[in-house]
Amino acid sequence: MSQNTMTFDGRAPLDGGNAEKEVNPLGPQNKQPLDPQRRFWIGTAAVAGGVVGVGVAVPLVGSFAPSSRARAAGAPVEVDIGAIPPGEMMTVEWRGKPVWIIHRTPEMLATLNKTNSEVADPDSNRPGFTPPYARNEWRSRKPEYFVAVGICTHLGCSPTPHLTPAAGPGLPADWKGGFFCPCHGSTFDLAGRVFKNKPAPDNLEVPPYQFLSDTRIIVGVDEDNKA
Ligand code: FES
Repeated sequence: MSQNTMTFDGRAPLDGGNAEKEVNPLGPQNKQPLDPQRRFWIGTAAVAGGVVGVGVAVPLVGSFAPSSRARAAGAPVEVDIGAIPPGEMMTVEWRGKPVWIIHRTPEMLATLNKTNSEVADPDSNRPGFTPPYARNEWRSRKPEYFVAVGICTHLGCSPTPHLTPAAGPGLPADWKGGFFCPCHGSTFDLAGRVFKNKPAPDNLEVPPYQFLSDTRIIVGVDEDNKA
């Protein structure tokens, strides 16, 4: 099984990281009660584990370009997603949290039909975790790109990507690909939907984001969340 993960030197926030201009600390997607810095470090450690597991040398903390002031201010982050190969993912930081961008293959998308009956909230009806444009079978604006906050909705650990269909510790024998939270065993499919009877109460959060072009997105801004 390969762990197709990569981290990304998160683009500088818009306006060169001018925190005063970019401050936007409120908004419907910013309701998580945990300390975001704490969660980011938890998340970084988990992502690092996945990267190390496949021997991919990727700088982590130092690769996140936005300044601490800009991060604290919640500045939107513009990301070039064109370099993500199909089947792989990158991680950027937004508001002190890891945000995953997964380039899903047709085969990965096909697994979502199969997990539909196994997840707790298949249509993402529970409020607060899925913006309207992602309330669809893909949980995304475009099927091939899944964008999610890499923080478990149980107690704030960062799940580990297991993107390919292969069993492993804590995973069922018929694992189809998704994410596994090692803290208490919650599992999520390739749309971030939590499986039934797991500690996590909700699907992974889809942050506000928009496409600027076919290969660029901006995280932190959408129809309801202005920079
Ligand atoms: S924090 Fe993920 S299962 Fe508890």
